[in-house]
Amino acid sequence: MTRLQAIDLEKTYGSGALAVRALDHVSLSVDAGEVVGLLGPSGSGKSTLLSCLGLLDAAQHGEVLLDGAPIAKDGRFVSDPTEVRRRRIGFVFQRANLVPFLDVRENVLLPLRLEGLPSRAAREHADALLKRLDLWDRRSHSTSALSGGQRQRVALARALVTRPALVLADEPTAALDAARGREAILALKDIARDEGAGVLVVTHDTRILDAFDRLLVMEDGRLSAADPKDHAAPAH
Ligand SMILES: Nc1ncnc2c1ncn2[C@@H]1O[C@H](COP(=O)(O)OP(=O)(O)O)[C@@H](O)[C@H]1O
Ligand SMILES: [Mg+2]
Repeated sequence: MTRLQAIDLEKTYGSGALAVRALDHVSLSVDAGEVVGLLGPSGSGKSTLLSCLGLLDAAQHGEVLLDGAPIAKDGRFVSDPTEVRRRRIGFVFQRANLVPFLDVRENVLLPLRLEGLPSRAAREHADALLKRLDLWDRRSHSTSALSGGQRQRVALARALVTRPALVLADEPTAALDAARGREAILALKDIARDEGAGVLVVTHDTRILDAFDRLLVMEDGRLSAADPKDHAAPAH
């Protein structure tokens, strides 16, 4: 099943001589349970693409579909972008952005609390994520007591707690060493496969490319399939 589909996205910042074409006829799809890595040099349009897929911004042309239904088309959102983001898309950023005065479990429950009192099933799902991400014995700890890897795993649990159709992650392993980075991606893959989420991860981290199901590369706003062999880190 296709979770995410983007058709012919175009996005230009500025105009005239200063115009920057950040997305140039970009099309892609991500299936349920698939974890796709997105590579490309700085300034190639990766964050712009994630913003347009996650309804933080709108491409001037093209269409974004989630579970087969359009959510954005030709510079307009089809339905309330806040609702779509909150209920159907999980976001993970380079920094975990945890709430410092809430403990680990409450940080994970936060997206559910924004919707009202979490149901018993929802709380059980949150606890299951904490266990799978090896955070269970930290659940009542302050987030300031966590390591970088643990903080990023809390951010993953928070992104997954609403059972989103799609998870968008922008360099989630940038602050982690290679082993922690790979662990985080493999955990994400495991959970995405079980729960059927589609996952798109921007990464510069050539040490962990083998953890992805498939790779794409952005260059100057254009997207193409990438061969891991062309991007792998040199062997030590
Ligand atoms: N808000 C903006 N206003 C103008 N230009 C922007 C803006 N955001 C990004 N750009 C430009 O668009 C291009 C793609 O940027 P970005 O999507 O951030 O790339 P990446 O995430 O791959 O580093 C770059 O040339 C960048 O300078
Ligand atoms: Mg970026």
